Amino acid sequence: MKRYRLRIPGPVEIASETLAEMAAPLTAHYGSEWVELYTETLELCKRIWRTERGTAFLMPGPGSAGMEAAIVSLSGEERKFLMLTNGFFGDRWIRVARSYEIPLAVLEGEWGRALDPDAVEQALKRDRTIRVVVLVHGETSTGVLNPLREIAAVCRRYEAILIVDTVATLGGEEIAFDEWGIGIGVSASQKCLGCPPGLAPIAISPEAWALIERGRVPGWYLNLRTWREYAREWGSWHPHPVTMPTGLMRALRRTMAEILDEGLDRCVARHMEVARALRRSLLLLGLEPFVSDHEAMNTVTAVKGHAHLPASAIARALKEEHQILVGGGLERLAGQIFRIGHMGPTATYEAMLPVVLALEQVLQKAGIAVQLGAGPFAAALGR
Ligand SMILES: Cc1ncc(COP(=O)(O)O)c(C=O)c1O
Repeated sequence: MKRYRLRIPGPVEIASETLAEMAAPLTAHYGSEWVELYTETLELCKRIWRTERGTAFLMPGPGSAGMEAAIVSLSGEERKFLMLTNGFFGDRWIRVARSYEIPLAVLEGEWGRALDPDAVEQALKRDRTIRVVVLVHGETSTGVLNPLREIAAVCRRYEAILIVDTVATLGGEEIAFDEWGIGIGVSASQKCLGCPPGLAPIAISPEAWALIERGRVPGWYLNLRTWREYAREWGSWHPHPVTMPTGLMRALRRTMAEILDEGLDRCVARHMEVARALRRSLLLLGLEPFVSDHEAMNTVTAVKGHAHLPASAIARALKEEHQILVGGGLERLAGQIFRIGHMGPTATYEAMLPVVLALEQVLQKAGIAVQLGAGPFAAALGR
């Protein structure tokens, strides 16, 4: 299979030191040495969520497994959910909730615009029976960052538990689990956390646990009660229900420690600086970002095509002529945008400069006179 530079919105390119962790001889997923490693990894995870009150788990599986576990675990007692969506992943969680026949209301926002906390407040005011709200923090399909802090505050006021998908944002955007009053947060190893896919970090607040405990739901693996039972009852030797991907866990321990060594705030600032510099350079190249600056994510930039070259042609040329893989538009945005991921190890000047240079060449080759973006990109990052 041909090798490409991964600049898709996850999975990201992995540092060789991280890959080396996975190449080490396999270890057992139980026993005192393992429990020490597992516990240490959960502690790092809690620091990245910025939670002391919450419980953390690392569930083997993709981010979607973590989200499905959060949704089904809170769905007891025929509780009503409010599903917030302004993109492909918001729509996915509606499908998941519907598949469990959870009673729900939907608040749909425009694709490419952030959700409005006042509209969430109106929806919760209109229907006082809503107990759970589901939100995507960074909507990877459009590059929009939703106002998590403000929506979490609204949920608290209406005593609703907020489940938030931070698959594309944990480690790349500011998130304060305890301070903002998040109910359940879910992420994935393959984005800003700089690991291969396969582990879903989950954090659960005491308030979310209280609601989980009040309603019984079917299911075993995706039932968070099972995870808590094992943590309590088998905590000293096997604190999780299933066989863990031990190499991946070691890799994640390493990358999370690196994020904390860099400093969480500094790491988020790095993502923000790279995203801003990239958006500015794109504009110089005549490529308009899909999302305006004040609503854009730090970790994914969606770009409209050029007036004289469609988005799909640009993405194809990046792949075929420059071996750089970017994402395309999903569903209603198919063919209309391409998406560049700058997450974790790729949220750097070194990783993004080749993308800017390649875009310059692609446009020039198509006969488009461009103002060059690489110089300003470097200057914006102090190079
Ligand atoms: C915002 C968001 N949520 C959820 C997912 C699904 O993650 P996974 O493919 O790990 O299930 C993705 C994947 O790209 C995502 O970007």
